[in-house]
Amino acid sequence: MTSPDSQTEELDREFLDTITVQGREYQKYSIDNRIYFGPIDDEEAQRLDEQQRVFQRIFDHRLIFPPIRRLRRILDCGHGSASWAVEVAEQHPDCQVIGVDIAPHMSPDNVPENLWLQVDDLNRPFTFPSNHFDLVHSRLLATGIHRNRWPTYINDIVRVLKPGGWVQMVEIYFNVQSDNGSLTDQHALRRWSTQYMQALEDKKDLRVASKLRSHFQSSGLVEIDSKMIQLPLSAWSTDPRMRAIGQSNSDNIQELLRSLALYPLTQRVHMSAQNFDSLVEQAREEARNHSFKAYFPLYVCIGRKPS
Ligand SMILES: C[S@@+](CC[C@H](N)C(=O)[O-])C[C@H]1O[C@@H](n2cnc3c(N)ncnc32)[C@H](O)[C@@H]1O
Repeated sequence: MTSPDSQTEELDREFLDTITVQGREYQKYSIDNRIYFGPIDDEEAQRLDEQQRVFQRIFDHRLIFPPIRRLRRILDCGHGSASWAVEVAEQHPDCQVIGVDIAPHMSPDNVPENLWLQVDDLNRPFTFPSNHFDLVHSRLLATGIHRNRWPTYINDIVRVLKPGGWVQMVEIYFNVQSDNGSLTDQHALRRWSTQYMQALEDKKDLRVASKLRSHFQSSGLVEIDSKMIQLPLSAWSTDPRMRAIGQSNSDNIQELLRSLALYPLTQRVHMSAQNFDSLVEQAREEARNHSFKAYFPLYVCIGRKPS
């Protein structure tokens, strides 16, 4: 298979430089340009790999949701540790899979030969040709896409899709909910959510998950199917499958809360490291308390470009 990017250029130094904040590594370019405030170190790559395993359980081991008969080209936006892209490339060896991410740091060293990982900023207009991909996948980009970029981001995705091609988006709404309404604004989990969302709200739309259907409609997509699934934060569910998912999330809850919010809370709204640690610790205790039935709403939305 020939490379889709035959004139690969040497990666600009500015994308490689990192800075260390409170013991975690961040891409300097993303931080300086307020693109993305999540860590890009090995710890984060492992967390994303583990999260992919949880998603696989939630989605019954399906990587691709729309009914696509022949897959020739797939674009994965913001591939992270490339766990989704690698599995898709392995399952579809005749398909070209291209992953794009602002940060190359979490890309694995060995990838299938039908997967190409590129560095680019998805906030800029796409440079891919029109009518090119059968599927565009975008998962957990709410913290990376600028808040006013969403309509043009989805329009760019639609432009590069072949007629009849599909988009698949997955976003978490990080405002923690309780299945029995027992979490109040005073609880640490709610305070974590509120402060995390406020710390990014000048740049990012952390409520975009619930607006995906309306964005899809505005960009002319058809056969839109949008669902909200509860992502349990501990093993409170009576359903055995959801209880097992909750158990995995509970085991990793501290990493999730820390990794997402460390930079936004300590650097953007200047919470002290001590207060941050204490907030995360209290939130972790609450998340593990089954009586709260705490969950994050997880939105899944697919849509088709008209033929
Ligand atoms: C939370 S991770 C999700 C990774 C992957 N999609 C997954 O679901 O495992 C977000 C990823 O998007 C990348 N990202 C954020 N903003 C971006 C942007 N504007 N352009 C390209 N990549 C971006 C980050 O570098 C990070 O790797």
